[in-house]
Amino acid sequence: MIILKKIADLQHYLAPQKAAGARLGFVPTMGALHSGHTSLIQQAKAANTLVICSIFVNPTQFNDIKDFEKYPSSIDADIEMLIEAGCDVLFLPSVAEMYPGGPANTPTFNFGYLDTILEGAQRPGHFKGVGQVVATLLNAVQPHQLYLGQKDYQQCMVIKQLLRLMGIQDKIELVICPTRREADGLAMSSRNRRLSEFVRPQAATIYQCLVSIESKQHTSHFETVRKECIELLKDKGFDPEYVSLAKADDLTLMGDYQPNTPTVALIAAKLGDVRLIDNLILN
Ligand code: PAF
Repeated sequence: MIILKKIADLQHYLAPQKAAGARLGFVPTMGALHSGHTSLIQQAKAANTLVICSIFVNPTQFNDIKDFEKYPSSIDADIEMLIEAGCDVLFLPSVAEMYPGGPANTPTFNFGYLDTILEGAQRPGHFKGVGQVVATLLNAVQPHQLYLGQKDYQQCMVIKQLLRLMGIQDKIELVICPTRREADGLAMSSRNRRLSEFVRPQAATIYQCLVSIESKQHTSHFETVRKECIELLKDKGFDPEYVSLAKADDLTLMGDYQPNTPTVALIAAKLGDVRLIDNLILN
């Protein structure tokens, strides 16, 4: 695996390979890698000639400076995991490389409704930052395929819209891979490593709530199930932010279950000072 830190070097390396017919799969990350990330690398590897992974903790997508400062970092272990998973190129830029004129002079995108609900409402400015950095990364890498994890469902929808806003939806295929889970159901996330051993056993409650939302879809009203989930989360020490139901294709929020409508349940809740999100597409 080669490690490149400059956009010009990355493009210099990739251009001849692309010209020779190589297919590029791209996995953007913020590091602190876990097996959810490596499974994205492996899936990208199976479908492409070259896999490029980026590690960049993007300051503009953190609405809370403390969250940014506490974001876990483990670059040496990350590099080992990437080599093991078969990654070909690690792109490891600095803030100055990504934002040469500063974030204020880097283009932003308007995600409309998607930026007003759920994560958009709880984390103002977050998706603006995600749009900025992903646009810069896509312009740098120009992959054939972009791999994202379903755990960040709303982010996947935002990036799908970003591809349309950039006019590259026909050039780059977005591949959304299923969420990887720990044995007790907790969705794998870089933030999990900040959970203390005392609260870690409670963390899977979010997944239990999602499963109960799914299992009660034909027997209960969503509002009843939502209240049960909020109570359970509070009992287990969480500070719930939202327990919501939305149309899976455009995230229109739903007040109740609707038969024959592809639906996703989404939860965000804080456990101590660690904010966790998860979702489940209802079967
Ligand atoms: O999901 C992430 O890790 C980040 O939001 C992303 C897509 C790498 C952009 O910084």
